[in-house]
Parts: sequence; C-alpha cells; structure tokens
Amino acid sequence: MKTILTLSELKVLRNNLSGTIGFVPTMGALHGGHLSLIDKSTQTCNHTIVSIFINPAQFSEEEDLNTYPQNITNDLRLLNKWNIDAVFLPTNDIMYPNGYSTFVKEDYVSRNLEGDSRPTFFRGVTTIVAKLFNLINPTHAFFGEKDAQQLRVIKKMVTDLNFPIEVVPCSIVREDSGLALSSRNKYLSEESKKSAATIYKALCHGASLLKKGEQNSNKIRKTITKKILNEPLMKIDYISIVDYASFNKVDGKITGKVLLCAAIYCDGVRLIDNICYPPPSDY
Ligand code: PAJ
Repeated sequence: MKTILTLSELKVLRNNLSGTIGFVPTMGALHGGHLSLIDKSTQTCNHTIVSIFINPAQFSEEEDLNTYPQNITNDLRLLNKWNIDAVFLPTNDIMYPNGYSTFVKEDYVSRNLEGDSRPTFFRGVTTIVAKLFNLINPTHAFFGEKDAQQLRVIKKMVTDLNFPIEVVPCSIVREDSGLALSSRNKYLSEESKKSAATIYKALCHGASLLKKGEQNSNKIRKTITKKILNEPLMKIDYISIVDYASFNKVDGKITGKVLLCAAIYCDGVRLIDNICYPPPSDY
C-alpha cells in the first residue's frame, strides 16, 4: 500500500492503474464500518484507493472539527491488512489552498434532516467528494447506508454532474448491541454506549409497528421518541420518517417504502442512524 501525500504522487499512481478503480473516502479513525466499504471495494474492483481527510468545510463553527477523533498510526496499521493500492492523505492546504472559493451544492435531497440541522454540512461534503472524484477518477465509489442522506446526495450529485462513477451503497455495520459503528462512538462512556444502543432498538420498534399495519407516521414517530427519551442522557435532534426515494418527510399516512431516521444527542454526542421499511434490496 502506497501512502500518497501530494497531488503529483497521486497523478503518477493513478496513471499507472487500469481496470476498475474503487474509491473509499473517509475522515479516518477507521472502524468496522469503514472496513466493510474497503472490503466491498477490494471484492468489486481491480484496484482500491482510500482517502483520509477531516474535511473542515463540512463542520460548522459549533461542531467538533478540532477534537474529531484521529489516529493515523492505527488507521495505517488497519489499512495495511487490506489489499488496497494506496491511501491518499491530503492536507488542508492541498484541498483548500489560500483563496479557495468554489463549492458544490445539491439543492433537493439535501434539504431536510441533516440539511436542516447542519445547514453547511452537505455543501462541504459534496465539495470535497467532487474534488476527490476529480483527482482520483474512480470507476466505483463506496458509501455507507449509515449516512443514508449523504449517500443519496452523492448519488444525486453524480447524476446531475455526469460523473462517470458507480456509487455503491454498503450496509450499516453495528455492534452486537445494535449501536451503529461511528468514529464519534469514541466520545461515549460505557454507560452512554448502553443508552445509545436504544436508538436502533427504538427504530426497529417503529419498523415493527409498520409491519403490524400501523400507517400513521406521527404515531410511529411518537412511539420511537418515547422509547428514546425513556433512557437517560438522550436529547432528540430529529426523528423523521422520509420517503425512500425523495427523502421528503412523510407526515400522515405511510404508503410506500420509507426510511426511519434519527439524530440523537447521547450524553452530548450527536449520533445518527436509520432503518428502511420494507428492508432494502437496493438504494
Ligand atoms: P466518515 O464518517 O469517516 O465515513 C466514511 C464512510 O464510512 C461513509 O460512507 C460512511 O457512511 C461510512 N460508514 C461510517 N460508519 C458506518 C457504519 N457503521 N456502517 C457502514 N458504513 C459506515 O462520511 C464521511 O466520513 C465524510 O462525510 C466523507 C464522505 C468522507 C466526506 O468528507
């Protein structure tokens, strides 16, 4: 595995690769969720490139940019175990040199949920991912369903901007408790981790109500809310039921395929999770 620090090194590497190229963008502090994307890329493509870059453009001033978990030594140790060609580790100066002023913004799928709670987030994500796509020029790019709205926004950007890239969705990897793996779980104490596992359990309960024939989205949301607030340390940012295809909120009768989504502060740590009903075959 090559460690690539500069754009010129990246260009040389990329020019020497042919066949299918899988790309896995990450912000590091790698865990089993990231590794599942890498696994899928190495199984799907002839070559795999991973990037690690904590993208300042997707953090607002109140967010945790300065304390975002990082452990590059451990990340490189983990990556070395996989059959990947290179890890790209750009700096802020490389990605956003002085005077940088161009941004990519998706305006439809990104409006609700995360877009509401974090107004500059998706603009930062689409900008960095578009730049990385241009630099790496992959044939396939791997994104987790854990960040379901991010996955949709990237798919929309790829379609709208004609990137010749197949976006490959990857299932959510969870701890045995059901808690979705996340770099931010490192902020949680053992006790708060136990509370955090309720998020998935509450979403599953919501899906089970749907399965039993309940169609009222507000009733289901209320039940999920109650279950989550039963636990100590929890504060709700949003619990939303959205249409699977459009990401529009379903307010009232549920008729089609939906995602049950939650963003919850657990002991001050913001966690997101979602489940699909009926379960997904393809995003
Ligand atoms: P990061 O949070 O590091 O996540 C990188 C990728 O790993 C994303 O596609 C995310 O959905 C996926 N992922 C994280 N946890 C997962 C889990 N438990 N199961 C499956 N996949 C999981 O998402 C970002 O970074 C950034 O926004 C990025 C796309 C790199 C742009 O900066």
